Amino acid sequence: MRIPNKAIIVSSALAMLMMTGCGDDSNGNENVKTVPIKKSAAVYFSRVGNTDFPSDIDAVTSASLNRIDGELKGNAQLIAQWAADEAGADCIEIVAEKSYPVDYNETVDLAKDEQGKKERPALSGSYDSLKDCDTIWLSIPNWWADLPMPVYTFFEENDFKGKNIYVFVTHEGSGFSSIVKTIRDLEPDANVVEALSVKGGSAAGEEKTIKDYVKKQMSK
Ligand SMILES: Cc1cc2nc3c(=O)[nH]c(=O)nc-3n(C[C@H](O)[C@H](O)[C@H](O)COP(=O)(O)O)c2cc1C
Repeated sequence: MRIPNKAIIVSSALAMLMMTGCGDDSNGNENVKTVPIKKSAAVYFSRVGNTDFPSDIDAVTSASLNRIDGELKGNAQLIAQWAADEAGADCIEIVAEKSYPVDYNETVDLAKDEQGKKERPALSGSYDSLKDCDTIWLSIPNWWADLPMPVYTFFEENDFKGKNIYVFVTHEGSGFSSIVKTIRDLEPDANVVEALSVKGGSAAGEEKTIKDYVKKQMSK
């Protein structure tokens, strides 16, 4: 798995502090009052579902791709699907109308450009069903120490007042960066919990970690 060099330089200092793990101390979670979980949904953004990969793409040498049972899966996608499985919830993908480049480095450069311009890529999906949920299991990749810009669109177009948002981030060294704080700023009336950060390269082996975490939150 390749790591975007420029992105790593930007966030290498934070990476030392924020590796895989659940934060219950320095992340402000102790002040987050959550509501009981009755109906939840897993929501994710992954490069896979936002890129028109050729069917024969090599998932071994291509960064951030997993081929499971013949199907390409993103790291954040795997986590969302495990959370959904454990919670008995729907799994909903954030999909931009635009497609990101197949070439990894081109995607890295384009994402940097979008971030600099504060773009809000239009989304193609509908997220109305989330209105009925009290809890979102959100799984997203760290893009340039930030949310992918389509995830900003998602938060600006939907209201999560009073709902729990459990944030899972996949990354290649930067951990959460300031993603949880940004989501709290975007959704000031939601209960935003820093859940788990998972290194993309080892995401495929984290099923039990994710399911155990979700199970624990559901039993509270
Ligand atoms: C555009 C882009 C920017 C990225 N920026 C960072 C970064 O700043 N820090 C980091 O640790 N990883 C970064 N990564 C790596 C991804 O966060 C990581 O590979 C993630 O697991 C991908 O998840 P996905 O397969 O669901 O898309 C970046 C990847 C891409 C494509």
